[in-house]
Amino acid sequence: MGVSDPQDVNAARVRVWDAPVRLFHWAIVLLIVTSWIAADQGYMRVHLWSGSAMLALLLFRITWGIVGSSTARFGDFVRSPRAAFRYLYSLGRGEKPLHAGHNPAGGWMVVAFLALLTAQVTTGLFSNDGLKFMGPLALLVSADTSDRITSLHGTIFYCLLASIWLHLVAVFFYLLVRRENLVGAMLTGSKPRHLVPEGAAPRFTRAWLAWAILAICAGIAGWVVRSQ
Ligand code: HEM
Ligand code: HEM
Repeated sequence: MGVSDPQDVNAARVRVWDAPVRLFHWAIVLLIVTSWIAADQGYMRVHLWSGSAMLALLLFRITWGIVGSSTARFGDFVRSPRAAFRYLYSLGRGEKPLHAGHNPAGGWMVVAFLALLTAQVTTGLFSNDGLKFMGPLALLVSADTSDRITSLHGTIFYCLLASIWLHLVAVFFYLLVRRENLVGAMLTGSKPRHLVPEGAAPRFTRAWLAWAILAICAGIAGWVVRSQ
């Protein structure tokens, strides 16, 4: 698999996030806002479009979690629940454990977001608006089932909103209490060297592979959405 050249070990900043992870992050933020406003205003074509883009991005991110750069991989950041609690406990004691990518608690947040968003998009595909719009797969189930799934689609969104609040509280906790600007890293891709464990050297998968995977995922999402 294409891996880019190693980083300069003396540089003041260490590259931790690749462009695909950062683009994925800010794209889902934009798509959630778009989906929300579109559903609220009854622009269901826009809602379908943003939901389809979300489906493509989720398929991409899950694949990138297997073949992508080291900090993007599930194998790198999904730890045991025990490790996550240990990490939170050490934070509570005022210790400053460092991680190049997601910390063990943040890793579970990523898993929760990916699961919630997958559930959001999947239920959306089977939902209807009670008027004339039907999700692309709604005809595969009975009208009653589609109605029940639509209500689940709404409930999952509240869980998503709650998770987003928690996520923002965590990000601001790091910024204000720990003086660690994680947002800057999610924007630029790099962290100051003193905030990265000594000797940590993330490996980056080449960007062309991300584009190729994204194109395939967009094709799959397009096929699902037009399969009615
Ligand atoms: C719709 C709202 C949001 C959702 C659903 C969301 C979701 C996520 C997800 C899934 C990740 C993991 C990225 C990956 O590995 O692919 C992440 C990381 C991150 N997000 Fe968000 N995010 C949202 C809004 C924001 C906002 C508004 C900010 C900044 C103020 C932010 C800051 C961050 C940061 C700093 C990380 C990296 C955390 C770390 O260092 O482990 N997020 N977010
Ligand atoms: C292809 C994917 C999707 C389809 C086909 C879809 C379809 C639908 C449908 C048919 C409704 C019912 C509208 C109504 O009752 O007037 C709905 C509502 C909604 N959807 Fe989606 N959706 C999708 C993805 C998403 C995504 C990704 C989000 C947000 C992350 C989202 C958030 C919402 C919200 C907030 C509502 C309003 C719920 C409520 O009023 O209780 N949807 N969607």
